[in-house]
Amino acid sequence: MTVNVSELKEKFQKLFGEEGCIKSFFAPGRVNLIGEHTDYNGGHVFPCALTIGTYGIIRPRNDRKLRLYSVNFDKMGIVESSLDDLTPSEKAGWTNYPKGIMWTFEKRGYHLDRGADILFYGDIPAGSGLSSSASLEVLTGLMLRDTYGFDISMTDLALIGQYSENHFNGMNCGIMDQFASAMGKKDCAIFLDTSTLNYEYAPVKLPDARIVITNSNVKHSLVTSAYNDRRNESESALKALQTVIDIRTLGDLSEKQFEQYKDAIKDPVCRKRAKHAVYENQRTIHAVEALKANDIETFGKLINDSHVSLRDDYETSCEETDILAELAWNVPGVLGSRITGGGFGGCTVSIVKNDSVDLFIRTLDKAYTEKTGIKAEFYVVDIGDGAHALDSYIQEDL
Ligand code: GLA
Repeated sequence: MTVNVSELKEKFQKLFGEEGCIKSFFAPGRVNLIGEHTDYNGGHVFPCALTIGTYGIIRPRNDRKLRLYSVNFDKMGIVESSLDDLTPSEKAGWTNYPKGIMWTFEKRGYHLDRGADILFYGDIPAGSGLSSSASLEVLTGLMLRDTYGFDISMTDLALIGQYSENHFNGMNCGIMDQFASAMGKKDCAIFLDTSTLNYEYAPVKLPDARIVITNSNVKHSLVTSAYNDRRNESESALKALQTVIDIRTLGDLSEKQFEQYKDAIKDPVCRKRAKHAVYENQRTIHAVEALKANDIETFGKLINDSHVSLRDDYETSCEETDILAELAWNVPGVLGSRITGGGFGGCTVSIVKNDSVDLFIRTLDKAYTEKTGIKAEFYVVDIGDGAHALDSYIQEDL
């Protein structure tokens, strides 16, 4: 489905008036191919930006008012607030994300001297775990940067997004989602070392296969607190290991070192969490090597191993995503399949041979509904570019 940006602009002008200059922007969602729950453990990740994401139309104001509207939350109408009221509140709903970015800008010394009218529209399925919030954060950062003329790199926009999500929205996420949204590149995944933010674009050349995302259409409650628990458990494991070996993060460890020192972690749950973080990081490094060598079979196998580890050791999978992955593994022509993103529902990502895509969708569609009573959704996706402006200023009298 293509989004008609002209229609969004018309809607903007209808809601906020026709005078003045408006500008439009886009920031994508992401899918992570491998490297899950490694980004806050100093490990590697391998996400790519999607062609779906969040669109924004902005016009600065002459006062300090903020008027925010989302086509997706039409029922909330135009949400009015002010640059003098940048505090999170339940009532503010989705606007806590753009407001968090404005708050972070102020905190970092990027002073916003005027408010704005902004319209948002996102085509990422709600609750799918494909980073609609990160795309909204990066989009807002980019709009503010370009509209108010700040000199901020795309990497810093990603960091601003993460800071805002951690400190304004209470989700202690790593950098992966915002980085993928800000820095994505068409037809490439980003091999990112989260301990240094060094990165490399790796072309995803799948000559006879596609990336298929399957939405379980399940989002279990308490996702944020369960995610934050995982992060705390990983940190406890790191602290225990640091009493016996000099490391900064779990990403510093090889599998061999982990096996040698793991008994320092007394809590069995924390030990499992650390095992996942260490092995998943190494898997990600091997997976990128395999992809670069066009060894798609090995790449796919590592993707499957990642799922098993998330299911058994990190315990961020759930019944529904386990069912989807296991069904996928049994379809001929599926090279790999695993849960992607933060977990506790959301999507799986699968690498499927071109001529098996139809069979894959048909098989999973039927069997998943039979087993769960829920209808899954399927997206055969392309890898898109990171956040960008969509046009130059549009004069109303043009
Ligand atoms: C969420 C977070 C990311 C990352 C993933 C798990 O998407 O926002 O930072 O931790 O979960 O890999």
